Amino acid sequence: MQIAVVGTGYVGLVTGVCLSDIGHNVTCVDIDESKVERMKQGISPIFEPGLEELMVKNYKAGRLNFTTKHAEAFNNAQVAYIAVGTPQREDGTADLRFIEQVAKDIAQNLQNDAVVVTKSTVPVGTNERVKSIILEYLAKDVNVEVVSNPEFLREGSAVSDTFNGDRIVIGADSEQAAAIIEELNKPFGIPIYKTDIRSAEMIKYASNAFLATKISFINEISNLCEKLGANVSDVAKGMGMDDRIGNKFLQAGIGYGGSCFPKDTNALVQIASFVEHEFNLLKSVIQVNNEQQRLLLKKAKERFGSLEGKTVALLGLAFKPNTDDMREAASITLAHELVQEGAKVVGYDPIAMDNAKKLLPGETIYTNSAEEAVKMADVVFIVTEWDEIKSIKFDDYVNWLEVPVIFDGRNCYDLEEATKYKVEYHSIGRKSIKNLS
Ligand code: UDX
Repeated sequence: MQIAVVGTGYVGLVTGVCLSDIGHNVTCVDIDESKVERMKQGISPIFEPGLEELMVKNYKAGRLNFTTKHAEAFNNAQVAYIAVGTPQREDGTADLRFIEQVAKDIAQNLQNDAVVVTKSTVPVGTNERVKSIILEYLAKDVNVEVVSNPEFLREGSAVSDTFNGDRIVIGADSEQAAAIIEELNKPFGIPIYKTDIRSAEMIKYASNAFLATKISFINEISNLCEKLGANVSDVAKGMGMDDRIGNKFLQAGIGYGGSCFPKDTNALVQIASFVEHEFNLLKSVIQVNNEQQRLLLKKAKERFGSLEGKTVALLGLAFKPNTDDMREAASITLAHELVQEGAKVVGYDPIAMDNAKKLLPGETIYTNSAEEAVKMADVVFIVTEWDEIKSIKFDDYVNWLEVPVIFDGRNCYDLEEATKYKVEYHSIGRKSIKNLS
């Protein structure tokens, strides 16, 4: 099929590349000329395992193209994907300006009948708005149907998630449009779930809100475990053996970050308030997460009284491993609050350092290795569970630090292991190991 994808951000590029890989002819359109040029040269604008290789392969095969020109992209497109950003406004609502602009661009350039598919996460009712904008601005007498097809990709595994996802949700009010999008997605071999447009839009928000709830729930349990002498890892394992609960997304830590959970949970609270519904459960989930992101700081203050003059190494800065994405990362909150407390911050991340520099306080010192960061520090905060960081041994900490005090925000180590070394090791929802003396 001839496909146009508007927006080559995270969702758009992964979608475009993967659709071309299953044999479709895809043109990705973006207003950023230099970005388009770089993609043509085989350089992916985002770090995502496997993406660049697939991009180059399909570009060379002639199935994938990049352009800044809408006319070129929509000329004979049978399906047009909208994959532009829906940033969060001050009040937590989603900003739909880019979506609306794309709807106009599509309407003014379409040459033949087409299905317009919204991939971006949009509030319930947005696809109807997209359809009415398209109908208002349509330049040619062609038939346009709108389909909601939310994405469930995780950063760091977006390509493999696209090929191995749990479901593809297709929300349509036209059976014919739904059938076209179903056909287009068939080569992925993933279960397809068809529903109406509004339900599909809601599935995306409800899924992310539910996963965020799971995380905040286990984090609250972890806080209780600490007070009551239980071990949250064992509790999560025992809970997860119940199929109804499931063992995923029960990893206690310093909260969720990233481009989706914080934004989508806030947006859903706002969406609910517009229909006069107080989503109290989700508000608590958000509040728990905000506090959880500060947990290592709270623990360190309890331990030391004051952090004034202390140097704290933040190991891992990205919101999770295998990405350079710093959006809503706990490291940002921690670094700013540490500086306010009078502490010095040394940061290290295997790949997110450039992005971190834009968001962490100006005083932050960056090192070229975790070892270097730890050697400069009085206290270590493990913020992101990169393999590289998990591979640091307790022996290393003992060698690199005069007084090895480690606050692990991601439970990277076995407690039993910690007891064998002369370290002080504080983790999440588990007892602290105090073996210094
Ligand atoms: C998420 C959803 O998983 C995906 O379906 C959606 O399309 C976009 O949002 P992503 O933000 O890439 O994907 O990352 P994910 O792996 O889900 O992790 C999100 C955050 O939750 C991370 O900060 C992670 O550290 C945290 N997390 C995740 C936990 O703290 N505990 C867990 O058990 C799982």
